[in-house]
Amino acid sequence: VLEAIADPVTVIGPRGQTLFQNAASRAALPDPPPQSFSAWDQGFVLHSADGVRRLKIEEWPLARALAGETVGDLEASVLMPNDPTQPILLLASATPIVSESGAVVGAVLISRDVTAQRRLERDLAHAQRMEAIGLLAGGVAHDFNNVLSVIVTLASVLANRSGGDARLMQIVEKIQAAAGQGGDIVKRLLSFARQQPLDARTADVNALVGELVALLRPTLEPNIEIVAALEPDLPPALADSSQLSHALLNLAINARDAMPEGGALTFRTQCAPAGEAAVVIEVADTGVGIPFDLQRKVLEPFYTTKPAGKGTGLGLASVHGFVSQSGGRLDLRSAPDRGTTIVLRLPRAAPELAAAD
Ligand SMILES: Nc1ncnc2c1ncn2[C@@H]1O[C@H](COP(=O)(O)OP(=O)(O)OP(=O)(O)O)[C@@H](O)[C@H]1O
Ligand SMILES: [Mg+2]
Repeated sequence: VLEAIADPVTVIGPRGQTLFQNAASRAALPDPPPQSFSAWDQGFVLHSADGVRRLKIEEWPLARALAGETVGDLEASVLMPNDPTQPILLLASATPIVSESGAVVGAVLISRDVTAQRRLERDLAHAQRMEAIGLLAGGVAHDFNNVLSVIVTLASVLANRSGGDARLMQIVEKIQAAAGQGGDIVKRLLSFARQQPLDARTADVNALVGELVALLRPTLEPNIEIVAALEPDLPPALADSSQLSHALLNLAINARDAMPEGGALTFRTQCAPAGEAAVVIEVADTGVGIPFDLQRKVLEPFYTTKPAGKGTGLGLASVHGFVSQSGGRLDLRSAPDRGTTIVLRLPRAAPELAAAD
């Protein structure tokens, strides 16, 4: 029966020696399994489930059970000796084995790898949160837009009646500029909420990238090298060209901000592998990178590390929304100090459509 159980079951003797293993335990533990406390202590690294606090061996379920305690479902982040780079999440319970005289002569350790399950739960929770924020943001953006229209309309009424009063005109211009900024935020919020009206047609991605590079060259600091690696036979994408340009510009500005000391900004276009009707656009930088645990966070609206007035945190959220709404997807690859690559996949335009346009 023990042999058939899918979770590792291990029986430990009072000095930490492994006395029995079922098949799952033999697959999970190194061969030979630990034969002393110090072997456990040296082979495994345990942290609390959130990965923050390292657990001393006295706190491990196995040591607590040998001290006479029954430990139920303790979740820990564990670095196993066979792969000490990638922590797994284990749900462990341990029960002491007590002799007739009442002495603890060993412990039964049962564990379960819940890494995949926890990751799925986290992804689902994140997706639900983004969905909820998206609905809220979309609703607010629409209402806010109506308020802005009233402000803009009344400002122009005021301008018409100013009778050439220069000071009044200055005030009107300030009102219009502020309303324009508000309008930009509304557009980005709608884009994040996937409610931006899109005009999807065949888009010549290489041409768009070329125009953007020409625009960026004179404006970026000279210590930033711009590279365009464009696939010559790139099929057209089905997307809103002006929104796509806007999205690429957003990514380029993020890349620039990530390279205060200079570096390379690379635009790369590719056909997706056969079978996937997509056009792939990569925007890569050699900048500061994004730590792993923030790589989902940066896609959320209003997350910014830039000083107030410099960033609103709507750039990546709006690009992500635009790409999703276009039927594509955005992936982010990044390593601290090495740089960041944002990969956009957009649906390929059908050949008939491309010919007609
Ligand atoms: N290429 C990158 N390299 C390193 N960090 C990045 C990169 N792109 C984005 N980030 C991080 O993600 C955060 C959010 O980016 P996002 O574009 O959404 O907002 P922002 O650039 O801060 O403001 P906005 O784009 O609205 O002006 C940034 O503040 C930055 O910390
Ligand atoms: Mg940005």
